[in-house]
Amino acid sequence: MIPNQWYAILESSEIKKGKIVGVTRMGEKMVAWRNTKGELSLMADKCPHRGVALSAGKLTGDCIQCPFHGFEYDTTGTCKLVPANGKNTEPPKALHVRSYPVREEHGFVYIWWGEPRDEYPPAPWFESIPDTMVFATLKDHWANHYSRAIENQLDVVHLPFIHHNTIGRGNRTLVNGPIATEESHWLGDHLLNLWVYNELDEGQKPKKPSEMPRPDRRPFLQFRYGNIWQNWIADGLRIVVAFAPIDNENTLMYLRYYHTVRVPVLRQLMGWIGSLSNLVIERQDRRVVITQQPHRPDLDIGEILIQGDSPIVLYRKIRRALIEGKKD
Ligand code: FES
Ligand SMILES: [Fe+2]
Repeated sequence: MIPNQWYAILESSEIKKGKIVGVTRMGEKMVAWRNTKGELSLMADKCPHRGVALSAGKLTGDCIQCPFHGFEYDTTGTCKLVPANGKNTEPPKALHVRSYPVREEHGFVYIWWGEPRDEYPPAPWFESIPDTMVFATLKDHWANHYSRAIENQLDVVHLPFIHHNTIGRGNRTLVNGPIATEESHWLGDHLLNLWVYNELDEGQKPKKPSEMPRPDRRPFLQFRYGNIWQNWIADGLRIVVAFAPIDNENTLMYLRYYHTVRVPVLRQLMGWIGSLSNLVIERQDRRVVITQQPHRPDLDIGEILIQGDSPIVLYRKIRRALIEGKKD
């Protein structure tokens, strides 16, 4: 995982007040819960006393109680009570659970993966999505590294093959460009924009990105590091994916179908139809993408890439620079 970034790893609605949710994300076991004010806590799922999973415990007001010996921890991970020492004894300072910096925005729970800071950059999002839009979410598990799943969403060459009977219909196998650009809006922000110009092969040579006219429309696809992607189908229709890393071999995909139909029953119907079509398309991808070797891509893994793969190369270059700390 690239350090010092926000990652969308859960949806807020998955952590209901009064419930304890144990998950694996970023290769670590974590426990999520809320205090009585509804404030979210995300911490290591391991009691510092003798290693029991806190997710097997229970909530006692504003604390989570370990099921083994009843030690209680607040949302910051500070131990507030060691029952065996009595309620009038201050718990030892060393009894502290690692708690992760989190932010809840746009219905996602973002985790800060890196060194704690006094001030954090904004959580990555697509400001082009108006607040008036609503969404339905589909979750699906992919057995591969999250960056393979991201690369698949930047892969314009695969469309007429994997999706020959859905979004890649029409046999547009020839890949002009594509045009891929990078933008940054604040320190540490990296946004990829992608325009797709696939067409029927009638014997013409594919145009290089430099031969393509300047795009006169919004990008078809956008990716914002660490892990969110948008397909701009129309102003009132978008697909957003958060690629939540479970560990190096597993990814949980949160696929959101954004639309503008707010009338109750129609809204559900739209969400259902949108999620069904997302499921069909992403399962077409999943079947193939999970077979890629090695699981974790990089710049130097020996793949023989072509012109149409340029967005993937750009993604890998930025990823590598961020990992090596060479990019702001
Ligand atoms: S292991 Fe958690 S209180 Fe003992
Ligand atoms: Fe695909």
